[in-house]
Amino acid sequence: MDGEYSFHQEDVDRTFSKLSAHWSHKSSRVQKGGGVRNRLIQLLLSILNTSDSLLDVGCGDGKVATLLRQRSVKNEITMIDGAEGMVSAARDRFSNDPQAEVACAHLEDYVVTEKRKFEVISALQVLHHVANLRSFIESARSGLKENGYMVALTVGPSFHAEAIPFHTPVNDPLGRRSSLEWAESFRSAGFFVETVIDDYFCIQFPGPEDYLEYLRSIGSISKMTRYRSESGCAATHALASLTDSDGPLALTGHHVTIVAQKMGGH
Ligand SMILES: C[S@@+](CC[C@H](N)C(=O)[O-])C[C@H]1O[C@@H](n2cnc3c(N)ncnc32)[C@H](O)[C@@H]1O
Repeated sequence: MDGEYSFHQEDVDRTFSKLSAHWSHKSSRVQKGGGVRNRLIQLLLSILNTSDSLLDVGCGDGKVATLLRQRSVKNEITMIDGAEGMVSAARDRFSNDPQAEVACAHLEDYVVTEKRKFEVISALQVLHHVANLRSFIESARSGLKENGYMVALTVGPSFHAEAIPFHTPVNDPLGRRSSLEWAESFRSAGFFVETVIDDYFCIQFPGPEDYLEYLRSIGSISKMTRYRSESGCAATHALASLTDSDGPLALTGHHVTIVAQKMGGH
């Protein structure tokens, strides 16, 4: 159940540092629709007390903190990311915010060196990218205070199923899992899973070029290409036939959002 992905930490860091230059513009190709980031924000708003400290893991260029500040959340927010490019974009964004701190670190190292505990940890679109899910979730647990919460939004099996059908979460090239499997990953690491929500999403593009450019900007193309060469799966063929015709194309699937509380005695 807790099978590990075949992602390597250095690849993840390198990919996201490279993507960071265009990360905040990646939606410019979208005709209609977008992620369901609001689900994570809604849940965070319902959990955060005014004095709670928040650690946003895999912060990218600081989207979660930006959305919270836009909703007048004044809590202390610490953001960490393993990709230097993302960290410098987040630092630029929050240079005038005395309640925000940004560090270049992997969660697994950060909780060991910092020894700081948070009331809440968030992770927006991070879990399906991490090199070792089990150790990532255990690290999140040790970075939380007793009864603290982790809120995470990630992808379900239907994400990119048009190009790569989902068979099993073990070594899935896109890090996908069903909502029950995500929940089990938290439960088996000492969390009480309070809420799991599946949300349908549809992101529509004017044509194949925009679709492909968007996939490239979120790192999916490089994962699909690598998958094909490693296992002989023809993901790129499926993608090619999908983008063969003119006209609008949609990326559809489910996002999974999990709210999990740290249980004592594990
Ligand atoms: C898809 S991006 C999401 C960025 C941001 N949360 C957003 O939604 O815009 C995933 C991020 O997680 C980071 N990441 C992956 N594994 C990590 C780890 N173990 N510790 C810290 N950051 C990690 C990557 O570097 C990348 O910036």
